Amino acid sequence: MTPTPRTFPADFLWGAATASYQIEGAVDEGGRGPSIWDTFSHTPGKVLHGDTGDVAADHYHRMAEDVAHMKELGLEAYRFSIAWPRIQPAGRGAANPEGLDFYSRLVDELLAAGIRPVATLYHWDLPQALEDEGGWTARSTAEAFAGYARVVAEALGDRVWMWTTLNEPWCSSFLGYASGVHAPGRTDAAASLAAVHHLNLGHGLAVRAIRDVLGDDARVSVTLNLHVTRAATDAPEDLDAKAQVDAVANEVFLGPMVDGAYPDRVRTDTAHLTDWSFVQEGDLELIRQPLTALGVNFYSTGRVRRLGGDADLAEAARADGHGASSHSPWVGCDRVEWLPQPGPHTAMGWNIEPQGLVDVLLELHERYPTLPLMVTENGAAFEDEVTEDGRVHDDRRVAYVHDHLEAVGRARDAGADVRGYFVWSLMDNFEWAYGYDRRFGVIRVDYDTLQRTWKDSALWYREVVRTRTLVPAGEAASLAQVGSTAEASPQPR
Ligand code: FCB
Repeated sequence: MTPTPRTFPADFLWGAATASYQIEGAVDEGGRGPSIWDTFSHTPGKVLHGDTGDVAADHYHRMAEDVAHMKELGLEAYRFSIAWPRIQPAGRGAANPEGLDFYSRLVDELLAAGIRPVATLYHWDLPQALEDEGGWTARSTAEAFAGYARVVAEALGDRVWMWTTLNEPWCSSFLGYASGVHAPGRTDAAASLAAVHHLNLGHGLAVRAIRDVLGDDARVSVTLNLHVTRAATDAPEDLDAKAQVDAVANEVFLGPMVDGAYPDRVRTDTAHLTDWSFVQEGDLELIRQPLTALGVNFYSTGRVRRLGGDADLAEAARADGHGASSHSPWVGCDRVEWLPQPGPHTAMGWNIEPQGLVDVLLELHERYPTLPLMVTENGAAFEDEVTEDGRVHDDRRVAYVHDHLEAVGRARDAGADVRGYFVWSLMDNFEWAYGYDRRFGVIRVDYDTLQRTWKDSALWYREVVRTRTLVPAGEAASLAQVGSTAEASPQPR
């Protein structure tokens, strides 16, 4: 059967995503205070090649140019994050007008370009001053987060189209406080569970603060990286290993945020680490707030089996996909082994399995039929090459995005209420522990000149957005070719 092109409806939102520390640079400008990622990236050995976000893609100085690229791409929405330390350099108190002004100008520029601003309040750059008081292990950080949300809502609430409280709290808690491959680089399993709760609480308090300022109609979401994990076999012990991982990867956020409860499983599995006394009376009511949409970030899938004897245990894989550590982010999952996934893989070593996206979207839809979904990140790092013609023929990225959009289409066909798709990322950027070594952009950034160049994937994505139509994979590759020869100068002025 020849596949036919797939057209998305007129109200499906096409976007691209970035995050503040990954693109902005200008870390000492505009009254910005230090964040945990400044401290972490400047600590020798934490980030590949010693890269830091000091300059990044220099978006802080090139914001107008970058919005012009978005307009040229035809984006309907742009998902960016606000750097908390630009707004409150020490994490609380009066807002820094220069910090607010930067995002106010960005939002105005987006609106003038006909692009809806989707603002994430926390994409990992916690003010260092708050980390010095315990960071997310401290309840006071959740309270400070609500104060920050209020200040930003007051300043930008008339123009931001949708708010996202947190990006991937799994990474903030378990990579930040358990495996330590992300800032603040702590390796304390018990602390990571306190961080989970305070991130959840911060989410709930921030939703309330935003709605307090903007009214109940304000669009508010949260973005989770729900892990799609398969059991290696149908044996009960492997299925149980999968359930154990699901609980600590997904349920520990979805449970309180959407259902109003922590999964018993996680409490039992981690009883030797903590008594969970950080959960205070009334917290679960505060955390569970109505959401306009749930953001889903998806890149790859995992496979687990139950470990048997003690010899196995010593060999347990430390799979977290974001860096190497001898401490596992899989708190309470000591007898779970992560198995290598069959290829193909991206430059992150992440396997490519678009069916995983279909599965997670459908599962969410079945569980929460009335909760709209958005794919708030999806994309791939590959070893891009600039060819003699000065272009980047990133066919594999085109294929990756194509196949995942096809997955979104299939999930929608089966009833999932997926309202939009944001490609990660608009441009190459600071990929956390991997620094500038891994490139996710559809637009290339030359880190010497900071020049932006459209890759074939950008040309291809523009066509998809313009026509709202996904053509079958083989044709997609040739479309990218057409784009790259027909377009002498795809760069906006
Ligand atoms: C996600 C992050 C995003 C980016 C992608 C590749 O976990 O939210 O900032 O690093 O991975």
